[in-house]
Amino acid sequence: MTIDSRLHDDPLWFKDVVIYQLHVKTFFDSNDDGYGDFPGLTQKLDYIQELGVDCIWLLPFYPSPLKDDGYDISDYTAIHPLYGTMQDFRTFIKQAHKRGIRVITELVINHTSDQHKWFQEARKARKGSRKRKWYVWSDDNTKFPDARIIFLDSEKSNWTWDESAQQFYWHRFFHHQPDLNFDNPEVRKAMLRVMRFWLSIGVDGFRLDAIPYLFEREGTNCENLPETHALIKELRRELDKDYKNKLFLAEANQLPGDVIQYFGNSDECHMAYHFPLMPRIFMALHQENAHPIIDIMARTPHIPFDCQWAIFLRNHDELTLEMVTPDERDYMWKAYAAQERMRINLGIKRRLAPLVDNSMKQIELLNSILLSMPGTPIIYYGDEIGMGDNIYLGDRNSVRTPMQWSVDRNGGFSKAQFASLFAPPLMDPIWGYQALNVESQLLDKSSLLHWMKTIISLRQQHQVFGRGSFEFISSSNQKILAYIRSHEDENVLCLANLSRYPQFAELELSKFAGITPVEMFGQSAFHAITEEPYVITFGPHSFYWLLLKR
Ligand code: BGC
Repeated sequence: MTIDSRLHDDPLWFKDVVIYQLHVKTFFDSNDDGYGDFPGLTQKLDYIQELGVDCIWLLPFYPSPLKDDGYDISDYTAIHPLYGTMQDFRTFIKQAHKRGIRVITELVINHTSDQHKWFQEARKARKGSRKRKWYVWSDDNTKFPDARIIFLDSEKSNWTWDESAQQFYWHRFFHHQPDLNFDNPEVRKAMLRVMRFWLSIGVDGFRLDAIPYLFEREGTNCENLPETHALIKELRRELDKDYKNKLFLAEANQLPGDVIQYFGNSDECHMAYHFPLMPRIFMALHQENAHPIIDIMARTPHIPFDCQWAIFLRNHDELTLEMVTPDERDYMWKAYAAQERMRINLGIKRRLAPLVDNSMKQIELLNSILLSMPGTPIIYYGDEIGMGDNIYLGDRNSVRTPMQWSVDRNGGFSKAQFASLFAPPLMDPIWGYQALNVESQLLDKSSLLHWMKTIISLRQQHQVFGRGSFEFISSSNQKILAYIRSHEDENVLCLANLSRYPQFAELELSKFAGITPVEMFGQSAFHAITEEPYVITFGPHSFYWLLLKR
């Protein structure tokens, strides 16, 4: 199979891209029914291209009762009718590729919706029969007691009784999302078919949703089991067999030591999220101290050269605090989610801009860290304009409101009646679409959107950010985060002042003595580095990217 000639032929492409994450439902409604759709998204591809990102991660768009925003799939190989047709999807892929933008989609393999025909057949089939064994059943609800409950706010057990089956079924997430039984070879084959189906349409890769939980074994916590890794290797062999330049991204919300197992020997996933880094960036900002970031990076093992971390500030879920200590969680809740309704499960259901009280300086600082730490950055739709959230909406819908395009009705997202919209757009004086939208930020040269375009484009000009090595630089001042990225003959010194006050620091840079650092946004030369500590001053929450070239 040849790759699309408009996309450059490089198996490591995922190291160089900036990913934009979006839900088709929330982006742009082309047929005025209140839901975003693929024709609408295709119309907005120019916007995405101009932002400078070159990969789109699409949240689930398959037929679904939408009780978990589409992660509850009832048919793996079709498009939800609200979002358009298969032809619309093909057109979208073609148009994205034409612009050099790759598209990754969701492979939600751990569970289906209880409305999926596989589950409906399984619950009606005879106990112990082939069909029943597509899911995980038990006569009692005491098996696998060491498996934690993930959706603590809504579920009491990982088992739910099914009247028609007269057995309990196993689910790691909502009770309406039964887990598939991967001990059954038929299930494995079915998943390989699903994967091939979307590859043949042209998607460039898959986010493997909830990947640690595929198998259940007594006496374990049912996470990261050897059987899971064997299955991912099987999927990867299939991915590599007929296709070039495709990607697996592991969603494993685990500590780095467990996550790196998902890279295998470069024979499992190409990328994995660095979940524990994200809350520590916010912690460092609030504590005005680089320690939490330094500490988690020190605990991050090296990964194979052809693998990559995926890093992010916010996404469609809660800002997860699963991978921090109970004390750190309490700190984060107090610092960033003072009101009870800002919290869900073990996390915080707020967007980036409200988390930092709409401080432009802090949004810029956080993005400068996101775009320069080792890994491929992911930007959540709307965060490029500093969109707000609606903490009154249930589940994690607080951060899934319609994209704000203009001051027009419904924020330019849809011409439908307000009551038909999938969710209300934001309308308050600070975050509402009248005050905050793409159109006005395009007109305003000092807007966050323009700033985001500039920093993304700067990153895109230097491969060092995606591919370079990473090393902390010793700083006399704990409030200054300092690290160096190096690739071939390029070194970039990244400095971030985590404090809200001006600071100065002495940096140990003697190995670069003789070099004159050049600030990358404005091309201004700084004073030359000598054998002595390098003295540098900072404005509140300011950052520098300094090119060190001999
Ligand atoms: C997704 C969530 C979803 C969960 C269960 C997660 O990994 O990111 O949005 O609720 O899987 O499907």
